[in-house]
Amino acid sequence: MVLLEAMIVRRFSIKDIHSVMRVVKKSLGETYPPSLYLTLHSIWSDGFMIAEENGQIIGLVAAVESEKRVARVLMLAVLPDYRGRSYGSTLLKKLEDRCRAGAFRAIGLEVRKSNMSALSFYERHGFSVSGEIEKFYLNGEGAYQMIKVLQS
Ligand SMILES: CC(C)(COP(=O)(O)OP(=O)(O)OC[C@H]1O[C@@H](n2cnc3c(N)ncnc32)[C@H](O)[C@@H]1OP(=O)(O)O)[C@@H](O)C(=O)NCCC(=O)NCCS
Repeated sequence: MVLLEAMIVRRFSIKDIHSVMRVVKKSLGETYPPSLYLTLHSIWSDGFMIAEENGQIIGLVAAVESEKRVARVLMLAVLPDYRGRSYGSTLLKKLEDRCRAGAFRAIGLEVRKSNMSALSFYERHGFSVSGEIEKFYLNGEGAYQMIKVLQS
């Protein structure tokens, strides 16, 4: 666990499911079925972490191994009222630590083309745009693909 003042980053646990769904709804505007979170947890529990402040879940990162030793971030979100306080950076760094410990080669993700704050956030964390996917999202919006290489 990482402890920064009252912040704790730890693995997702099944009892967290409703709090995590609330964070995803408030942060990303999405409501996914509980089975999605159970599946993510079962396929790679190290890649699914939550951030807590004083016992309240305020952020999460969820990643899968999309190809051999390449992680793909599916969700990274922090509640609006808690942004700009390093929770997102800490979650991403913790995921990167786990990927490095597992000899992962890279971390990839997609970002909405309109999400300039997330784009600059990931660039600040060493990610680069590697491609684009047209109409990637359900509303027809395109995505930038971003990647961070961890070892050559
Ligand atoms: C992207 C996100 C996870 C970052 O989380 P965070 O806890 O705000 O991250 P940090 O505090 O470590 O850094 C936030 C950045 O915003 C700046 N910032 C400062 N105050 C802020 C505020 N009130 N709100 C948002 N960002 C703020 C920080 O200085 C930092 O700058 P940078 O853009 O140069 O990196 C968060 O903004 C979020 O949940 N966004 C909505 C979901 C999303 O876009 N996810 C990523 C794509 S799936």
